[in-house]
Amino acid sequence: MSATNAPAPVTVIGLGPMGQAMAAALLRAGHPVTTWNRTPGRAGELVSAGATLAPTPAAAVASGELVILSLTDYPAMYDILGPIAEDSRRPGLLAGKVLVNLSSDTPEASREAAVWAAKHGAAFVTGGVMVPAPAVGTPDAYVFYSGPKDVFEAHEPALRVIGEPRYLGGDPGLAQLFYQAHLDVFLTTLSSLLHATALVTAAGVPAADFLPGALDTVTDIRAMIGDGRELADALEAGEHSGHLSTALMMGATADHILRTSATAGVDVELPKAVKSHYDRAIAAGRGTQNWTALYEVIKARS
Ligand SMILES: NC(=O)c1ccc[n+]([C@@H]2O[C@H](COP(=O)([O-])OP(=O)(O)OC[C@H]3O[C@@H](n4cnc5c(N)ncnc54)[C@H](OP(=O)(O)O)[C@@H]3O)[C@@H](O)[C@H]2O)c1
Repeated sequence: MSATNAPAPVTVIGLGPMGQAMAAALLRAGHPVTTWNRTPGRAGELVSAGATLAPTPAAAVASGELVILSLTDYPAMYDILGPIAEDSRRPGLLAGKVLVNLSSDTPEASREAAVWAAKHGAAFVTGGVMVPAPAVGTPDAYVFYSGPKDVFEAHEPALRVIGEPRYLGGDPGLAQLFYQAHLDVFLTTLSSLLHATALVTAAGVPAADFLPGALDTVTDIRAMIGDGRELADALEAGEHSGHLSTALMMGATADHILRTSATAGVDVELPKAVKSHYDRAIAAGRGTQNWTALYEVIKARS
């Protein structure tokens, strides 16, 4: 917000489903929105809703201090902003801008981007949007942020429109680290659901007979490990006591899943990877420890 409390102007670069949802939410909240997209046709609905479509990335950036990027990855940001930053005829176009990159990439890419932005006089905030595009701007939405705290706080009112901001700290890599770690859980779970469905349908069982119960298994994990704090303490302490779910017992099950998959003729790469964690924990003498002992194998740096 400005001193008059009027919603601040926001530039949104990138109009995939996510960028479109962000720009639409900002417009609904009363922010003047300027946008640019490589494929201008994607701006149609937003322009009808009141957004300004800038003719060039330079014009989009020039229209305000806060520039939100929603692109496939960070190289796309350099493709768009690189020529502006390096334009010797019009130096300083990025100076004083706040670049908030909500695109997915690695934490290292975010750190490098912060250095690149600083070289051109811009501040850089990293973000990771934790909901699908249709949930942007709803109470379910939340977004991880990291980067300079004062800069984040100055633009927090506009960023809050996209979703609840969860600020993690000054390291620009943190937001992408959290984003990737959450997506690690998410993508692996999605693959396991598809794999398990393939397993039962290979036996002629309709997917609908299986999937609702499988989703119960996903949510029941909370009942098994609690809210995560106890597990976190145990993992940090290297404490793997417990005899109810040992690596040996769970490893035998991992082997059964792999063999069942092979017999069914479905893809075996995921169960192979899981079994390998158990095999290596058992080989390291941790078979009689709790299943959490796999952490020692997984966290080992190669
Ligand atoms: N969609 C989701 O549910 C979701 C959820 C959480 C996070 N995210 C993250 O949000 C980001 C955007 O997602 P999205 O679904 O909107 O992605 P998308 O459909 O891949 O859209 C990507 C945007 O990037 C632009 N782009 C890609 N490469 C470019 C390049 N080299 N030069 C210029 N523009 C380029 C595209 O322009 P064109 O229109 O010209 O192709 C488009 O505007 C991604 O990093 C994604 O991981 C998405």
